[in-house]
Amino acid sequence: RNRTRIKDAMASAVPVDSLCVKGWVRTVRRSKDVAFLAVNDGSCFASLQVVLEASLPGFDELARIGTGACVEVTGALVASPAQGQSWELKAAAVGVLGDADPEYPLQKKRHSFEYLRTIAHLRPRSNTFGAVFRMRSSLSFAIHRFFQERGFLYVQTPIITANDCEGAGEMFRVTTLNPAKPPLVGGQVDWKEDFFGEATGLTVSGQLQAELFATAFGDVYTFGPTFRAENSNTSRHAAEFWMIEPEMAFADLAEDCRLGEDFIRYLVRYALDQCGEDLAFFNDHVEKGLIDKLEQVAEASFATMSYTEAVAALQKSGQSFEFPVEWGCDLQSEHERYLTEKVVGGPVFVTDYPKDIKAFYMRLNDDEKTVAAMDLLLPRVGEIIGGSQREERHDVLTRRMVECGIAPESLPWYLDIRRWGSCPHAGFGLGFERFLMYATGMENIRDLIPFPRTPGNAKF
Ligand code: 4AD
Ligand code: MG
Repeated sequence: RNRTRIKDAMASAVPVDSLCVKGWVRTVRRSKDVAFLAVNDGSCFASLQVVLEASLPGFDELARIGTGACVEVTGALVASPAQGQSWELKAAAVGVLGDADPEYPLQKKRHSFEYLRTIAHLRPRSNTFGAVFRMRSSLSFAIHRFFQERGFLYVQTPIITANDCEGAGEMFRVTTLNPAKPPLVGGQVDWKEDFFGEATGLTVSGQLQAELFATAFGDVYTFGPTFRAENSNTSRHAAEFWMIEPEMAFADLAEDCRLGEDFIRYLVRYALDQCGEDLAFFNDHVEKGLIDKLEQVAEASFATMSYTEAVAALQKSGQSFEFPVEWGCDLQSEHERYLTEKVVGGPVFVTDYPKDIKAFYMRLNDDEKTVAAMDLLLPRVGEIIGGSQREERHDVLTRRMVECGIAPESLPWYLDIRRWGSCPHAGFGLGFERFLMYATGMENIRDLIPFPRTPGNAKF
């Protein structure tokens, strides 16, 4: 390539006579006979200080470069006398690929995350979002590495589907425009309903299809976008998020929890080893003590308690919750936080939930009241993983479907794998953005996904 990445330039062991960097100007400082540009190319957190001296051809013009401009600079990498950086680039030639006018919205002052969401096309060029999206990319790679090292097959499950895996009625409908009647500007859209011959939507989970693959390949995983028309305006829910769903044949709930724990610890360790510069920024500016917390989690073994025990602990707490707790109720985020922050003081698996508050596919326990489900709860973030051992018994599954109002005829293929070579199997889903919230300390899910989709917001 015809440029050196700033990350590599910064890591140089020796001065370099001539190299070329290309990037975007973060700040400009100038005086009569010298100007300093901080140039960032996204390859690392730090910006490279570029020094323009008055002797540089075109100095007067160049010293007026706008913040946000795109530049290419050729020059000598020399030891920097300035504090906190080892190298700076003494410019011999500067080309302006694209100047920026003074209305560029990302000026040096600190902007709120709310404001930065309104300029999602530019926020990747800020310190915080540079760090967020570098970590997101590194951890995506780590996710594949974790499963590939363990022999899991990566399966791409469909995005358009006729099945509502979670049965929560939160699917987005898929339709086509009727080509005979194109939409009028400002008019009614004419949707055509019959493309697939049945109603379809965007997937809420790839689990049902992942189960099919698990009964052929043993251990499989998905990693892809997932959609929920959940009308909850919270800091933890997005209408479009990415989910990782492993599914294992010949596994029970205990093995499922073990995989979840190994997975989280692996990702945390990977972040500590590979994302040090970005984590240091989050640790200093977003969540104090973040790195210590991650170091502990990378080594800890996670607590486990049953739903019944969790309810008892909440009732015993004497705490007055907005939603009172009784056996059979769904745990709200205030309960999840209390359990992780006050009862356990760390991550906890809650297992064996009442069947009435969980999905139809979870394996019925011998008590016939609870299912072999698990949620992993983390301090601050709450539920990050939802999983279960699946119901592998054809007759029990059919009965559960009917109880949950799902016509068995609507999922013949799902029942088929219980007829031909059924086996115990288990899996879970990890919400990628929720994990990133935990790993960065960022508090709003909208700030962990490049272009967030939430109620009323599908811009960019
Ligand atoms: O608990 P959920 O709904 O479980 C499933 O979808 C199962 N089919 C997974 C499986 O067993 N294969 O979702 C799993 C995780 C949650 O724990 C949460 O981290 C995340 O997905 N999640 C969301 N993340 C962001 N926005 C939303 N609206 C989310 N809904 C779920
Ligand atoms: Mg869940």
